[in-house]
Amino acid sequence: MTASETRALLKQLEATVEENLDRHLASAEAWMPHEYVPWGEGRNFAALGGEPWSAEQSRLSPVARTALELNLLTEDNLPSYHAELGNTFGRKGAWGVWVNRWTAEEGRHASCIRDYLLVTRGVDPEHLERARMATLQAGWDSGDKPLLHACVYVSLQELATRVSHRNTGRYCEDPIAEKLLARIAMDENLHMIFYRNLVQAALEITPGQALRAIADEVAGFVMPGSAVPGFARKALQIAQAGIYDLRIHHDDVIMPLLRHWRVFEAEGLDADGEQARQDLAAALKALDARATRFVARRAEQAEFLASP
Ligand SMILES: [Fe+2]
Ligand SMILES: [Fe+2]
Repeated sequence: MTASETRALLKQLEATVEENLDRHLASAEAWMPHEYVPWGEGRNFAALGGEPWSAEQSRLSPVARTALELNLLTEDNLPSYHAELGNTFGRKGAWGVWVNRWTAEEGRHASCIRDYLLVTRGVDPEHLERARMATLQAGWDSGDKPLLHACVYVSLQELATRVSHRNTGRYCEDPIAEKLLARIAMDENLHMIFYRNLVQAALEITPGQALRAIADEVAGFVMPGSAVPGFARKALQIAQAGIYDLRIHHDDVIMPLLRHWRVFEAEGLDADGEQARQDLAAALKALDARATRFVARRAEQAEFLASP
């Protein structure tokens, strides 16, 4: 897509952005993060005469701690996402209003997960701070995605984040963590709906190019947390625990969006659009096969570990 085509598409989509911004503002609840943190459990760390952190102080399992830490560090990297979205969508008009509003909502997520973890001693605070510094210094580079690719990516990413927060909350087996993460997941759901509706509008304006973006982003999706130090190891632990794995990614993230967009029912596609749809079908088949292999291997390993 050329720069002038992108400018034209930004203009064509602006009415959809305005409409969805209004819908979002009417449905988003102004929830207060301090109401989700058990402040009464808080106490000083060693530098202020209190007790240093140690793992047994946490009521969370090691994998629950890893999942919460990865979710937090992913949320922490917001300055990079804000810059990327501003560059792609621009900072004027409804697009600019949305970018700032979205950023303000996302900022709440990191601050209250951090408060929860520090107050409940759920994570080593020194390790967390070093990891935060490393994550933000690495930043996040989506590779200068074209406009439609960016819209598809954020649709997938917001839904992936919603599922990841929700499943992490359940896995924590702590009602306070579960309530907090369920609340954050509701925000991610509204964000997903915003971007999903933009992609829907783009499918009506330029179906072939929108399908190309969908096919490319489904095939090449990488979680925004990949900038976090030790991401591969953490993601594997989280997948082994069934919090977020390839099967969940395929069934609960990719497929609901594709069904909503009715990508396999679209008619009147040009040759490029048809090619994109074939590429998408091939990418889905490969992802489904990888998901099946992962789940089978995980079950085999669990059986082996449980055997006498
Ligand atoms: Fe978030
Ligand atoms: Fe979000």
